[in-house]
Amino acid sequence: MSKLWGGRFKKETNKLVEELTASISFDQKLAKEDIQGSLAHVQMLGESGIISTEDMEKIIAGLNKVSEKLEKDELEYNVSNEDIHMNIEAFLIEEIGPVGGKLHTGRSRNDQVATDMHLYLKNHTQNIIEMIESVQAAIVSQSEDHIYTLIPGYTHLQRAQPVSFAHHLMAYFWMLQRDKERYIDSLERLNWLPLGAGALAGTTFPINRERVAELLGFDNIYPNSMDAVSNRDFIVEFLSASSMLMMHISRLSEELVIWSSEEFKFVELDDSFCTGSSIMPQKKNPDVPELLRAKTGRVNGSLVGLLTVLKGLPLAYNKDMQEDKEGMFDTVETVEGTLQLLAPMIESMTVNEEVMRKAINQDYSNATDIADYLVTKGMPFREAHEIIGKIVLNAIDQGKYLLELNLEDYQSFSPLFDDDIYEVLAHEQVVGARNSQGGTAPEQVQQQIKLAKEKLDKCQALVE
Ligand code: ARG
Repeated sequence: MSKLWGGRFKKETNKLVEELTASISFDQKLAKEDIQGSLAHVQMLGESGIISTEDMEKIIAGLNKVSEKLEKDELEYNVSNEDIHMNIEAFLIEEIGPVGGKLHTGRSRNDQVATDMHLYLKNHTQNIIEMIESVQAAIVSQSEDHIYTLIPGYTHLQRAQPVSFAHHLMAYFWMLQRDKERYIDSLERLNWLPLGAGALAGTTFPINRERVAELLGFDNIYPNSMDAVSNRDFIVEFLSASSMLMMHISRLSEELVIWSSEEFKFVELDDSFCTGSSIMPQKKNPDVPELLRAKTGRVNGSLVGLLTVLKGLPLAYNKDMQEDKEGMFDTVETVEGTLQLLAPMIESMTVNEEVMRKAINQDYSNATDIADYLVTKGMPFREAHEIIGKIVLNAIDQGKYLLELNLEDYQSFSPLFDDDIYEVLAHEQVVGARNSQGGTAPEQVQQQIKLAKEKLDKCQALVE
């Protein structure tokens, strides 16, 4: 079959070259957007008198037929038509004859592909924003049940200070909030229309780019045709926001894996989110958070891959840029698939309050509070720190926790100790006392959840 661009060539394309240069195996994912873009373009061509109304109508009818076949999965792509743009054009010509060849008037595949990808990412970014919202809602709902559930808080994965489990979970809400804001912000830059840039320099036809922007729902048009066809920042931005999101999800997943281990047992993931072992009948493996943790790798890979493709490319379009797609598609699928699982997994997990309570009763994470106690009685913090270090060492030697030492023990380290030390050391008190803004005291956590819900409502309104 002869190529749509075959006029200048004397020889057939080498088969291997055809395979190397073709992108149809993957860019067929842009079929819907490609037809959508063509419909707007041809309508503008007709309205501007660049083609006749009659031809415009024929082409629109033809594109609609191609679209119906796409819906029914009846399109058979041909690798010798290289990419989605030339495949769709070939289908159109098949439907309505040579008049279909008028569709490509005043445009190039270069501004066409950029437009398709803007449309595609705009759609999926909106989708992802809503999916992040669902995960955030699941976090808020678990958190509301666990404001008073205490868990050891860690630094260096060593017990540090007890915290409310809701406080720990809500930290992820705020990470996701920033992720979501990054995607929302990127919509602003996805809202620029490349179509009308032509191959690189614009076109000789009196096109109306504003009209196409209006038809496709773009707020702006790229003011520089060379930038319009060579820009892939919007994909880099998407991959970068996605890498950050996946990095956060990976951290949460790691915690879920640790927390569901026999050693911790802080949470139990629902059976429907775990798998078994083919040899060890007792196993219930947290495969889902493990895989979500691992999938961060491919998203990071796509980001670095595209940055590397783009670095050093001269203006304007270069075939290198065709390599922007697989990483983008893979990332969209990875991120959407991940978020889809994460929300119900968080919602359905069981929190073992008793195990958590036992854990905090068996550590020295209330030590800072004894230091603060001495400070309120007038001792400089550094001096208090030194004394408490010695008290902890003494307790460890006696095989006791801080609440189990008797008053004489305390007083042998400082005469400032009194009976009230035991109230200060109780874990509810330890957590409740951290009532500074953004702290783990129930009052602060409630405040935080209230703010989080306001953020969710506000975003809902924005998406709607
Ligand atoms: N399939 C190409 C891509 O994805 C479309 C643009 C091709 N333009 C060209 N001049 N070869 O980049």
